[in-house]
Amino acid sequence: MENRADTFPQPGAEGAPDGGGWSTALTLVLVAVLLAGALFGYDQGVISGALEGLQRDFKLSPILVEVVTSWVTLGALAGSLAGGELADRLGRRKALLAAAALFAAGAAVESLATGVAVLVAGRLIVGFGVGAAAVAAPLYAAELAPAAQRGRFISSYQLAIAIGIFLSYLIDAAFAQAGAWRIMLGVSAVPAVLLLLAMLPAVESPRWLLRMGRRDAARAAVIRVRPWIDPDVRLKAVEASLREEAGKASWGEVFAPAWRRPLAVGLGLAIFQQVTGINAIIYYSDRIFAAAGFSTPLAQAQATTWAIGAVNVLATLIAIAFIDRIGRRPLLLAGLVGMGASLFVVGLAFLSIGGASAGSGPTTAGIVTLVALVIFITSFAFSLGPVVWTVINEIFPGQVRGRAVAVATAVNWGAAFLVSEFFLTLVDAIGESATFWLFAFFCAIGGLWVYRKVPETKGRSLEQIQALWNPATPGDR
Ligand code: BGC
Repeated sequence: MENRADTFPQPGAEGAPDGGGWSTALTLVLVAVLLAGALFGYDQGVISGALEGLQRDFKLSPILVEVVTSWVTLGALAGSLAGGELADRLGRRKALLAAAALFAAGAAVESLATGVAVLVAGRLIVGFGVGAAAVAAPLYAAELAPAAQRGRFISSYQLAIAIGIFLSYLIDAAFAQAGAWRIMLGVSAVPAVLLLLAMLPAVESPRWLLRMGRRDAARAAVIRVRPWIDPDVRLKAVEASLREEAGKASWGEVFAPAWRRPLAVGLGLAIFQQVTGINAIIYYSDRIFAAAGFSTPLAQAQATTWAIGAVNVLATLIAIAFIDRIGRRPLLLAGLVGMGASLFVVGLAFLSIGGASAGSGPTTAGIVTLVALVIFITSFAFSLGPVVWTVINEIFPGQVRGRAVAVATAVNWGAAFLVSEFFLTLVDAIGESATFWLFAFFCAIGGLWVYRKVPETKGRSLEQIQALWNPATPGDR
């Protein structure tokens, strides 16, 4: 546990130890990060239960079902690219305020939608907010959390995503019978407004204020966050690290040959996290359970809530407990084996499910599907979920970290978009079994690739991690 802070992003000397302590301002930072994560998760999860009612009211074609489901990720792709710029120009606090306002507005548009076009516009707005927050919130956390807490702040973000998905499933289950999709989608305005309220009095990142030349405001911010330390010592440390960053890399340098290896690892992890099928399950689990014989919307929603949502939360806790003890590679490899094997079994189960899905209750194959999906989500939540974000945030050298992380995040959303956009089309074209086997095949390829290419970063300082990319010049690049 104690060395996790070393292995998370450390914006220079700002992470110097300060002897601990807690302040109201710091609590607000954590609350904001948790709310941002929960919103992200809620918007990821809610659509699975809303689809049934949406289809009834708008007579959605299969293509439109995919558009309504997946365009939130398209918005997030744009939002994550814009989020870095927004956070640099407006500040971290205002970027999060803007993201929360977008969430609230998008949720209102979605829930009041009179037609598919308006609904899709709402999905895009919500997605843009999700993407912007997905870059701004971890950045805000990384810059404001004390070094010893930084790892926990960022892992709490992934936990909050899982909790958000779970809450969305609970709300979906509560309104499944009525098919009240307007309530399901509209509810996300509530945490969005809470985030707005939390961000209004929240403190701006001193690091950003200094970068903008606002030294007095930065000093006041340091005093609010950590009243027990000497603000001038802290500001000097931050200034020194900002000077180091002065030669900050251009976008082009992110792709420079020197950083090819960490970039390949970061992008590879971002892609494998998605092409192994997580969001096909998160988004379409109700439909998968329906096909597996859970015939009522309520039975489907309950299976989704507990087998996917609750298990996702609980298994994320396993990763938080073990990521710094047994390391990233064992978790990734074990997770990929579990995911691949369970997807293979789901594919087998669907062979016997075939067209006979209109029965009165889940068949044996349906129960096998349920159990296999529990194993799948557990395996994802203790491995690819949190570990991918951890490694992406620790492998890049300081001068390219921000942009490289933004590129990896955008690629992750791009892959999420492709999977959720084409999942149903793929099911139509090659059938459920082959689709799940394709995901399983990607797990196998991903496992081999992780085994060969992803180094263990547990317990290594950021400098040691950098040295891994070029053993000839250890420690310094
Ligand atoms: C992924 C999301 C996914 C979520 C599920 C995150 O790490 O990036 O795409 O929906 O985990 O918990």
